[in-house]
Amino acid sequence: MNVQACVLRDDDRRPPVNELLEIVQRGLQGRIKRLPSWLFYDERGSALFERICEQPEYYLTRCEIALLDTHAAAIGDVLGPDVRLVEYGSGHAHKTRQLLGHLVSPVAWVPVEISPEPLRLSVQRMAASFPDVPMQPLCADFTRPLRLPVAPRATRRTVIYFPGSTIGNFDHADAVALLRKMRSEMGEGGGILIGVDLKKDPSAIEAAYNDQAGVTAEFTLNLLARLNRELGCDFDLSAFRHRARYNSMAGRIETHLVSLREQSVQVGRRQFAFACNEAMLVEYSCKYSREDFAALAARAGLRVEHIWLDPDEKFSVQYLLRS
Ligand code: AVJ
Repeated sequence: MNVQACVLRDDDRRPPVNELLEIVQRGLQGRIKRLPSWLFYDERGSALFERICEQPEYYLTRCEIALLDTHAAAIGDVLGPDVRLVEYGSGHAHKTRQLLGHLVSPVAWVPVEISPEPLRLSVQRMAASFPDVPMQPLCADFTRPLRLPVAPRATRRTVIYFPGSTIGNFDHADAVALLRKMRSEMGEGGGILIGVDLKKDPSAIEAAYNDQAGVTAEFTLNLLARLNRELGCDFDLSAFRHRARYNSMAGRIETHLVSLREQSVQVGRRQFAFACNEAMLVEYSCKYSREDFAALAARAGLRVEHIWLDPDEKFSVQYLLRS
């Protein structure tokens, strides 16, 4: 295996416990309670997300994989040779495999992931399939400015790969800020390859976030289990329920944890009161029409150079360049 595969750069690390505690307390102290959705992804949360992807209602992953089955070669042509592929939130890397297989002499794969163990594992697996591609994992929070490792050889362009419609978890202002940050990191001749879930029949979207088997509900509630374990909170998991509704005006799924009774919860040294039926916002999953997303990209100084759709036209992968 490539030597670099084992070296994790750790200039940015997973937030320490007291930082996590502050984030949660800040999220609970306002009139409207809200917690950041990246809190879902502890070890169990990541495993539950993998199971969500297998649920019949959750079309996103299947559509994106089908899209790459159809279009990965064309995408490889558009990106061109000698690309350095920087991947934000390198997760399971199934899609990466489809893409990397169609790049001509890629300079390096740079997965950026906040959790060191999943990062190490994904690099190990990828290195076995692509022994000739240098792997330069970066253990960091991709929403913060990154110090990318020096490329192992001359690079024709840096492409930031952001699959899975994770951009949907950011509200519009934060999405623009993240796209701007990517724009600067990719440099003058760089590009962004991004998965974007499209607007469609609201009932199909709602079903995707309310699977029959209840895996998504378990995923949402796991956030509270994580806070109990890592911060010593005393959330009663049976006293909250998962609720995911499509807000047509805003074009997004809004996921809440709803308190089933009046209760009070210990978080660090503080107590937080929940009213009966009080809803705590834990996730947005924004959906975009093609026009919506082009307008969002424009606000970040980017234009849509190419767009690919899956055969059912539910999901898109878009290639953005500086405008
Ligand atoms: C991984 C952010 C794309 O918003 O669709 C799936 C996460 N949440 N079901 C999404 C998620 C509930 C997912 N992303």
